[in-house]
Amino acid sequence: MGNRQLHNPPLVCVISGDDAAPEVMRPTVEILRELAPEIRFTEAPCGREAQAQYGTPFPDVTREAIDAADCTLFGASGGPSRPILWYLRWNKETYINVRPVRWIPGYNSPMQHPERIDYVIARDNLEGMYPPREGDVSELAALPSSSSWWMAPPVEKVGAYSIKVSTDEQMQRVANHACELALQRQAAGYPGRVTLGAKYSIQPRTDGRFRTIVKDTVSQHPSLTYQEFLVDDMARRLVASPESLDVVVLGNEHGDILADVSSGTIGGLGLSPSACYGEDYAYFEPVHGSAPDLAGKGIINPTAMLLSGALLLDYLGYNKQARALTSAIEQTYQEGTLLPVDQGGQAGTNEFVRAIRAHLPRHE
Ligand code: NAD
Ligand code: IPM
Ligand code: MN
Repeated sequence: MGNRQLHNPPLVCVISGDDAAPEVMRPTVEILRELAPEIRFTEAPCGREAQAQYGTPFPDVTREAIDAADCTLFGASGGPSRPILWYLRWNKETYINVRPVRWIPGYNSPMQHPERIDYVIARDNLEGMYPPREGDVSELAALPSSSSWWMAPPVEKVGAYSIKVSTDEQMQRVANHACELALQRQAAGYPGRVTLGAKYSIQPRTDGRFRTIVKDTVSQHPSLTYQEFLVDDMARRLVASPESLDVVVLGNEHGDILADVSSGTIGGLGLSPSACYGEDYAYFEPVHGSAPDLAGKGIINPTAMLLSGALLLDYLGYNKQARALTSAIEQTYQEGTLLPVDQGGQAGTNEFVRAIRAHLPRHE
């Protein structure tokens, strides 16, 4: 992926994040250290703790630690650590957010046939309605009003607008990455199908162009097939026919929302990992947020964070270790003797981590 030149041995920056996130970060880093002792981890201060120590939630030492590392493992921001997330996305230009959606036997899915769920979301991580570019509706007077619509911009009224931006460069690299993913998966036996979900009916210049770019890019790979759905219908398909999906390409805000829907289909946010890749940087974080309602209770599910750690291991070339970690998680769920609270069990975070650890190679 990209032009990355890794340190030897690799260097990973660890940002625990806010609220309950450190409770899953701690055991994840311990397990990663155990699996690949040569990887160096630098823990950088963030959020409230950094505010107390440095007078800012994002001190220079943390920026320097991110810059010096090959990649970052990020917990989640509940507010205070948000500037760090902005830096990881927009300063590091991590342009694609890859969110695998796969049911593992033992996951407490609300679906009747969850074994059909095994696809990957490829989400634009930089543009669309992010970062926020908002203003007063009166500023819209400067735009040529659209003659094809029934209502001119309400420039005389009190209110605000928000802008959606799509550049060809970004849409193209998202499309390229989605095709790369589909080819990689095809080599492992998946159908090689790229599915776009977008609102091209109502936003011809942004989503319509995204549609053309993704479709043309897929057509350059003869082994891949392309399908497209309006994003509202796409949402239904995630629930009604997930078996028809392989690589799902989505814009930024659509991908944000639908990734949580997908997560719901496999059994919840405690289970969904993600990776954000750029040309020369990457960071890894669960799909979920900082779960403030669970902070301090010791029951947050570590699976999403651990699987994000497995994606990090893959990125650094530790594929065997990534496989061992994933397999330990799969075995633990498959046995089902100990399950986290959100999966209908009673195991606290540490107890569940101990169960996973017992399945790691060095314990065999
Ligand atoms: P959330 O994902 O933190 O929580 C939503 C629900 O899912 C809660 O009931 C929570 O308890 C549950 N949940 C989440 N992770 C879980 C886990 N690992 N195990 C068990 N249950 C889990 O979303 P929210 O409550 O909407 O947002 C809380 C904060 O997190 C907000 O400040 C939001 O902006 C932030 N957020 C950050 C990120 C990120 O840093 N990448 C992502 C999403 C949300
Ligand atoms: C996510 C989160 C973020 C997003 C927030 C924290 C800005 O919900 O990564 O899914 O909206 O992208
Ligand atoms: Mn989200």
